[in-house]
Amino acid sequence: MSIYNVCALVGASTIGYFGFQLASALRFQLHTSKLQRYHHGPDPWALVSGASDGIGLAFVRAFAARGFNVVLHGRNEAKLQKIVAELQQQYKTTSFRTLVLDAGTPASPAFDETVLAAVKDINLTVVVHNVAGSGDPKFDMALFEDIPARLCDGWINVNARFTTHLTRLLLPILLRNQPGLMLFISSAVTEVTAPCTSLYTGTKCYIEGLAKCLRLEMALKGHDVEMMALLTGTVATASSGRSDADISFTMPSTNAFVKASLDKVGWGSPRVTPWLGHGLQFSFMKMLPAWARDQMLLRIVKKMQDGAAKKD
Ligand SMILES: NC(=O)c1ccc[n+]([C@@H]2O[C@H](COP(=O)([O-])OP(=O)(O)OC[C@H]3O[C@@H](n4cnc5c(N)ncnc54)[C@H](OP(=O)(O)O)[C@@H]3O)[C@@H](O)[C@H]2O)c1
Repeated sequence: MSIYNVCALVGASTIGYFGFQLASALRFQLHTSKLQRYHHGPDPWALVSGASDGIGLAFVRAFAARGFNVVLHGRNEAKLQKIVAELQQQYKTTSFRTLVLDAGTPASPAFDETVLAAVKDINLTVVVHNVAGSGDPKFDMALFEDIPARLCDGWINVNARFTTHLTRLLLPILLRNQPGLMLFISSAVTEVTAPCTSLYTGTKCYIEGLAKCLRLEMALKGHDVEMMALLTGTVATASSGRSDADISFTMPSTNAFVKASLDKVGWGSPRVTPWLGHGLQFSFMKMLPAWARDQMLLRIVKKMQDGAAKKD
């Protein structure tokens, strides 16, 4: 083969590859949500964990607006009741109920009873595993060597163990009420790993692994329960240190992020980045050579630490 033919082949393959990537990206952005598949049977319900604030609360509002009744999970009963009272004013024909459980406490027979009591008489078809936290925001970005034992357990209990046990209890219900949907809120850290997020990264990788494996198990058994992990970059929530003033193309509001997430329901892949701005950020980071990406992340985290040290 002549050098001319080799160059032509390489050029055509490159154009073909990027053309295919572009077409897939376009198809993803234009995908129409299949959420209404899960709005079936008498009075369908969705359950959202960590529903008293931020992204979880935005999911609650989005489900209510789309005709689902909603179970709000949280740890602060008074806060949840106040939210329910407000929601009830806005969505008069929708039912809301609460599931009050500190996700940091290990599972027990009482845990099972509390969860099952909250869902025993409803047609549950959707679950969103959204809750996350360490139990102490001071350690949200910390060197592994500085994290006390209590908070190691906090990260693992809230992010991984609670989600596991909630899945153990609720998946049989979704299977009974097929078709069903289970969403797992993951994070950019599984795509672009930064220092000082060791337990957060570890538990989010766990969540994604769980979602991917469950998706295959559903296919293996011919069950119609969609499993999808949502990769999330920064969203303008108070817990991420942001407010509405920070909203931008790369940092959506909670409502915009949740709408984009629900728009991707039915896409058929176990792991999606619903917000376009996050997708472009991740693609840029992944295009960099590993050493350049690491240097960039080290610089960003160092700057954040210096900023935090100045505030203290
Ligand atoms: N915001 C971001 O930039 C971002 C980026 C990547 C991924 N995410 C992911 O998105 C999800 C939601 O994040 P968010 O920013 O919306 O968080 P958030 O505003 O801090 O809300 C977290 C929710 O979880 C509840 N919660 C925390 N610890 C709990 C516990 N031990 N027991 C019961 N409930 C508990 C909180 O309850 P209280 O109201 O009582 O505090 C609140 O309802 C998380 O999975 C997070 O990892 C967020």
